[in-house]
Amino acid sequence: MKSCHTPVMVDEMLDFFSDVDLKIFFDSTLGAGGHSEAIFKSHPEIVTLIGCDRDPMALATSSSRLDPWKDKLQLFHGNHIDLDYMCKSISVSNVDGFFLT
Ligand SMILES: C[S@@+](CC[C@H](N)C(=O)[O-])C[C@H]1O[C@@H](n2cnc3c(N)ncnc32)[C@H](O)[C@@H]1O
Repeated sequence: MKSCHTPVMVDEMLDFFSDVDLKIFFDSTLGAGGHSEAIFKSHPEIVTLIGCDRDPMALATSSSRLDPWKDKLQLFHGNHIDLDYMCKSISVSNVDGFFLT
């Protein structure tokens, strides 16, 4: 996980979503949670952030980092190819933003 501790292109990501009403956000490669932390700070309107990673260590790290938003967080251990299943399992039918890096 060391290589994931410094998220890349955070400013570019925030610029991209700056005008988007992000109620539901899907971070498909949650890693250490740096991008999701930045999204949470910039988008207080977020109702649910779905975070997925295939690495359980990454989920442990990001879970701790994102603890201030734990009530809005839905974590999944698995491959983001299964995003449809993940969303359906929490009754989410569409997302306002999707991120992969
Ligand atoms: C560059 S790191 C992500 C950095 C993260 N955005 C952050 O802010 O720390 C890439 C992460 O993607 C995860 N990953 C790679 N392929 C994946 C896949 N198909 N499904 C889910 N997670 C995946 C890796 O386990 C790793 O934690």
